[in-house]
This record gives sequence, C-alpha cells and structure tokens, in this order.
Amino acid sequence: MTLSEKDQLYNWHPYTQHKTVGLLPTIVKGEGALLWDDQGKEYIDAIASWWVNPFGHSNKTIANAIYSQLTTLEHVLFGGFTHNKAVELSEKLLTLLPSNQKKIFYSDNGSTAVEVGLKATLQYFYNKGEKRTKVIAFENAFHGDTFGAMAASGITFYTEAFQGSMLEVTRIPVPNVGNETKSLEVLETLVASERYAAFIFEPLVQGAAGMVMYAPEVLDQMMALCQKHQVFTIADEVMTGFGKTGKTFASDYLTHKPDIICLSKALTGGTIPMAVTTFTQEVYDGFYNEDINKALFHGHTFTANPTGCAAALASIQLLELPEMQLNISRINAHHLAFATKMQSHPKVKTTRVLGVIFALEILTIEAESYYGTMRNKLYAFFIENGVILRPVGNIVYILPPYVITNTQLEKVYSIVEAAVEMI
Ligand SMILES: Cc1ncc(COP(=O)(O)O)c(C=O)c1O
Repeated sequence: MTLSEKDQLYNWHPYTQHKTVGLLPTIVKGEGALLWDDQGKEYIDAIASWWVNPFGHSNKTIANAIYSQLTTLEHVLFGGFTHNKAVELSEKLLTLLPSNQKKIFYSDNGSTAVEVGLKATLQYFYNKGEKRTKVIAFENAFHGDTFGAMAASGITFYTEAFQGSMLEVTRIPVPNVGNETKSLEVLETLVASERYAAFIFEPLVQGAAGMVMYAPEVLDQMMALCQKHQVFTIADEVMTGFGKTGKTFASDYLTHKPDIICLSKALTGGTIPMAVTTFTQEVYDGFYNEDINKALFHGHTFTANPTGCAAALASIQLLELPEMQLNISRINAHHLAFATKMQSHPKVKTTRVLGVIFALEILTIEAESYYGTMRNKLYAFFIENGVILRPVGNIVYILPPYVITNTQLEKVYSIVEAAVEMI
C-alpha cells in the first residue's frame, strides 16, 4: 500500500468530503516556498500552508531554536510556573504590538486565541455585575472552528449545523467600497441601543471569505463608536499578523487601537501550534481581584509551551531582518503589477492587493458556492500544475511565503492566468 492509500484508510482530513475526494498527495519534504511529494513532484506553496509560513519550509534558524529549546526545557506547565522563553516572548511582542497592549495570554491556535478574547470580554462584564452577553461581528467573517469562534463567524458553510447551540452574535455588513455608510449606521444603531460586550473583526482583510478588503478609515470610525459605548474591540489578526498587510499588524494602519488582539499562524513561522491573545491593562484589571472566582478561567495543557515560545522568538527575529521587509515590498510590487494586468482581462471581475495578499475574482453569471464546481475545477488545475492555491468559490488568492523567489512568483501568476483562460 502507498502512503496515500494508508492515509485514506486511517485519516480524516479537515473540511474534506472523503466520498468525493480521491487519494491525497503525500508531502515528504519542504524548503523555502517549495514542497515535494513522494513521487518527486514539486509544488509552489503559494498560500504558505494556510498562511502560517512566511520564512520558508524547514527554516534552519527556527529549527535550531526549537532543537536548542527541546534539549534545555521542552515543556513546563504554565499554571503556577513561568519560564524564560515566555517572559522573553511576551516582552518582545509588547514592543511590536500597539502600545495600549499590556498583557499576553497564551493558547494553541487561532480559534482558541479568539475564544480567549471573547470569553474575557464576557467575563469582564460578568465580574462587574453588568449584563452584557452579546457580541457584534461582520457578515462572512471567519474566526475559527471552536464554538465561540464559530458563533462569531458568518460563513454559514462552516457553521450551519451548529446554529442554535451558540453565543448570541449580531452580524453587520462589511464596510467594503460602497457599503461604508450602511455598515457604520448599522453599528451605530446597535451600540447605542443595546449593551454589547464586544465587536470582533478581521482588520482590513477577511481571509477565509476570499481576502475581502476594506479601508482602515472606516474601521477606525467603527472602533471609535465602540469605544464611545464601552464595547470592547477585538482585532482577530490571526491571518493578518506579522507583516501580511505590509505593516507588522493590520492594527498599525489604525488610529484607534483595539482592546484585544488575537495572533497565531505566522507567530511560530509555521512550526509549532501556538497563539496569543493580548489585552489592555483595562481588560486585565477587570479580573485583578482577591476573589478567585474573578480570575480568567481558561487554560490549555500546552499554554506557553517553551518550545513554541522559542520558535516564535526565532520567527520574530527573521521577520525583523531588513531583507524580510524588502521581500514583503518586493512581493507587493509584483502583486500590484499582476493585478493591473489582470484587471482588464474580460473574464476578471476585480482584483485587490494589500501587502503580500493578492486576490482576483473571476466573472461569473451566478454566485459560486464556497466549495462549488468552479472552485473544485480551479483547485484541481492548480495542483496538477504544481501550485498550491485554494480558491474560495470564484476567488483565487495568493498569499506566499515572504521568501518566495521572483521566478516562483511569476510561475504562480502564469498558472493563475492560465486558469482564468481555462475556466
Ligand atoms: C482570522 C482567523 N481567525 C481565526 C482562525 C482560526 O485559526 P485556527 O485554524 O488556527 O484555529 C483563522 C483560520 O484561518 C483565521 O483566518
């Protein structure tokens, strides 16, 4: 039996209808932006393996940091103890984050980072004896697959089966071009009429919705409205964090800073699952009390795992290299040129670019569903041509590792162009 056959026998993959999906490629090696399967076929990882890997696969700097940590202190419980790597990482993160962020809470993945943020806002008001149990979120948002994160998510494809079992969330329109006023008005009515605990959003780019973008100015106005009504703002930077938008965090484009920020994915450069939720002093102070019942009752076994912290510290070191910043600008310039070229293509509805994120919408007669026929045809075409891209309906997006070479990037563009012709 091949490894792919054994995989089919033993494994259950995420977001996969196994009845309609055949054998999956078995990846055996990665280097830079490239991956190879067990048949020797090469793939360009044009989405950085679900947006986690900016510094390239099998990165030696991160690997060495992990090895060194594994042979010094691989893990220690974070309840009742601390360790040097958690202290160093928190100190470092606080120098990078907006200056209103003062406390770091560790967890394991993007969904748990969101879960912690939501729970903290709900408990903050509970601790004060104030009834605020509802949250505001955008339509078509994606915040993860745990229950709180699912409740905040608006892509029904992921959450339909669980409606009725979730936290109460009011959804507002995304303020993309043309919808700014409507979105602001809906938010203003909500925060003025009811006591919401939080407003959660993917700042500037809704990743899973197909890299839907909106302007910082309108988000700033929305944050001001929330702050006026003591509604906590939660920036879910799980996708946008660590340079993807061209700045370290999407929140860096804003004048009003979020109360809470969720980070994961690129935090450890695609090596060890880890996440952080960061807080202002005000939120933290809502839990600071002699009463144990007022403590934040959330934790995971691997909270602040030292090996994960070491991987994150090494990743941040790579992010801060001048060459990495140049890579981000280089990719952005290439994306902009490709977007200009594709914008006039008769089969292209629109293109958009921010930082290293590129998206192109193919013109369709009817709305294409998330995992619909067009998506499946495009996906198969990309894989056949050795490029890993996961279109969303009729939207093709590129979010490459920052170390992708110009030649690799040009190959990705040419396959995307061929796919637009083919479809
Ligand atoms: C903005 C955002 N938040 C949260 C998540 C969930 O992260 P994870 O898959 O690590 O749970 C994702 C995943 O894509 C995301 O894009």
